[in-house]
Amino acid sequence: MPASFSPPRRVWVEVDLATLCANYRKIVDAVKPACVMAVLKANAYGLGVQPIAAALAKSGVERFGVAEPHEALALSPLSLPVQILGSILPDELPAMVAADVVLPVTDLRAAQWIQDEGARQNRRVKVHFKIDTGMGRLGILLPEARKTINQAVRLPNLDPEGIYSHFPMACRAGEAYTQQQIDAFLALLHDLKADDISIPLRHMANSDASCNFPQTAKVPFNLVRTGIDLHGPFDTEGGGTLPLRQVLTLKTRLISVRHLPTGMSIGYGLTHRLACETSVGTISAGYADGLPLALSNRGHVLIRGVPCPILGRISMDYTTVALDQVPDAAVGDEVICLGGEGPQAISVKDWASLKGTHPYEILCSISNRVERRYV
Ligand SMILES: Cc1ncc(COP(=O)(O)O)c(C=O)c1O
Repeated sequence: MPASFSPPRRVWVEVDLATLCANYRKIVDAVKPACVMAVLKANAYGLGVQPIAAALAKSGVERFGVAEPHEALALSPLSLPVQILGSILPDELPAMVAADVVLPVTDLRAAQWIQDEGARQNRRVKVHFKIDTGMGRLGILLPEARKTINQAVRLPNLDPEGIYSHFPMACRAGEAYTQQQIDAFLALLHDLKADDISIPLRHMANSDASCNFPQTAKVPFNLVRTGIDLHGPFDTEGGGTLPLRQVLTLKTRLISVRHLPTGMSIGYGLTHRLACETSVGTISAGYADGLPLALSNRGHVLIRGVPCPILGRISMDYTTVALDQVPDAAVGDEVICLGGEGPQAISVKDWASLKGTHPYEILCSISNRVERRYV
């Protein structure tokens, strides 16, 4: 059957690449002369890594950060440095070294694995030392960092390009824990300098730290790792200083319009009963598309620019909404589930607070069934 017979998707997320690039420029201006690494792990936080990476490359981004090897290989064709931020496994190294992926050194054992593979392939491998200053997840612990780095820099097939650490609490401006991490990292750099080791790229900041701890974008730091800020103003504790704009709008269509009688129950669990005869619409999106179940009886969508409250429990594929305020609503109408303009706009933060989660989870929950459209 010709492709033109394929019906349009019922649920799609529009990603505004011009807004994405404008956000990127604002971040660059805010942190310069430090450089920005675009963190595009998890398919660019669910929004589609290839178009986003290509748009950022055109806007002059200098490097990418990812979580794991397949994400790194997907970005290799863009010919910019790609860096794994987390950790690596020994059987991943042949492909990573061959593809020139920048690798994390999380302990001396990892340094030796990389050395061995680099020697086998007769290559010098760019590495960044990952220091655990308080995240408690991955990396070289502070008490052993100086010694480990001193040993690792002697390995001939390692090219120590960077040193970095990560924050668990940079969302809160003025947080003493974050300041202690910064101080400890600076003390380590000082010790390494005394050992005659100077590492070209030094970075701690993620999005929140760039806003709330601006010293992490200043000397001796010269790189920031930005993920979520590329996609909009999603700092949950409100410290955000940049005028970023949300890049995504999640849309679907109205699939049914009916007048339902007083007393009728709506949806699984009988959680909503109509107090009077009501015009009720059903939209073709549910929790399988990424609508949080927590929006049941609480959230709303926009139809013809008008907020329409969600009635009853969100189902896997459908959601029921009140249409009283949109008497002209018709089957086939476009529905904005997330996004929109002006005071009626529904933000990722709104959903996150209704669900009791953070914006990262909202973005990453937009499912595979949802088409990504780039505008
Ligand atoms: C090590 C590391 N750096 C930077 C980032 C980017 O963080 P954000 O999206 O908050 O900018 C992440 C994301 O979790 C990360 O794990």
